[in-house]
Amino acid sequence: MTVLVTGAAGFIGFSVARALLARGESVVGFDSFDPYYDVRLKEARAAELAKHRGFRMVRDDIAAEGAFAAAISDPAIDRVVHLAAQAGVRYSITNPDVYIRTNVVGQFNVIEACRRRGGIRHLVYASSSSVYGGNEKLPFAVEDKIDRPVSLYAATKAANELVAHCYSHLYDLPATGLRFFTVYGPWGRPDMALWIFTKSILAGTPIPVFNEGRMRRDFTYIDDIVAGVIAALDRPPAAGKQARHRVYNLGNHKSEPLLRYIEVIERATNHKAILDLQPLQAGDVPESFADIEASTRDLGFVPRTSIDDGIPKFVEWYRAYNGV
Ligand SMILES: NC(=O)c1ccc[n+]([C@@H]2O[C@H](COP(=O)([O-])OP(=O)(O)OC[C@H]3O[C@@H](n4cnc5c(N)ncnc54)[C@H](O)[C@@H]3O)[C@@H](O)[C@H]2O)c1
Repeated sequence: MTVLVTGAAGFIGFSVARALLARGESVVGFDSFDPYYDVRLKEARAAELAKHRGFRMVRDDIAAEGAFAAAISDPAIDRVVHLAAQAGVRYSITNPDVYIRTNVVGQFNVIEACRRRGGIRHLVYASSSSVYGGNEKLPFAVEDKIDRPVSLYAATKAANELVAHCYSHLYDLPATGLRFFTVYGPWGRPDMALWIFTKSILAGTPIPVFNEGRMRRDFTYIDDIVAGVIAALDRPPAAGKQARHRVYNLGNHKSEPLLRYIEVIERATNHKAILDLQPLQAGDVPESFADIEASTRDLGFVPRTSIDDGIPKFVEWYRAYNGV
């Protein structure tokens, strides 16, 4: 049988698709190659996936009517991993319409097509640590309220969870939402801190450090995220009294000061950073920290990679990919 992965030209989608192919699954990727960041990176990821015989890519837009339904009409597809989205937090402040279109309308098209087609054993989809918004209780636990989003991006992800719950309840569609915490690693995103910092540190230009450096993040290495996504995919929620919908945190369970993150990049690049201290940005939260008790209990999720091990792996990949 086949897994359909949306966002397969993206950072996490590519990494998940590659791991599924490596364990012998057939994978259909679905991605619009959205120009939000350098499309050449998306093409390079897609070219890696195309080396596998069990892979094909559908280039289309989840928000376009009928596009996803057409892709999922292939009867071999029995599971869906929905990772396509407009992903950056800050971009949602200036471009709110794209977030409603891709994240809300797009997810609706995905889940409605799954329901109509039938026979989908499990829909796993990306949520985000951003849903915890202005919460001050740490670490963030899945039972905590998520009714105080501080960016439209976060609001769309919270909406995705509600819609998924509703579809599971009404139509018995097994679905699992995964709240990812700041994912980093090889093949990562050029709009995220690690890429921006590494690029500037190597070039000797200042790096913007928000909230004057008083930020903490639960940085999670891509291989740990991939292991969590696949563990979730393999464990559809069982039938019972509750709707077959679950939500889990996938984080490293370690809240790191941003300044330590920068020190590790300095060590990995062997260059000193020039810090440009700036105020907290609209939409940003000062800290994230994942409670992973439920993910460990139900999915066997155990993150294994510290930033001391993960950042050098990114820097090595970054240098090779960019030829620097
Ligand atoms: N990377 C993180 O730290 C992080 C944290 C929390 C949640 N997430 C979520 O995980 C998922 C994957 O994120 P990522 O970091 O790989 O981002 P990404 O931007 O690298 O990947 C998203 C992919 O979706 C595609 N896409 C965008 N709009 C589309 C559309 N309308 N139709 C079809 N494809 C479209 C893009 O072309 C891109 O390849 C997203 O849902 C994101 O919100 C990521």
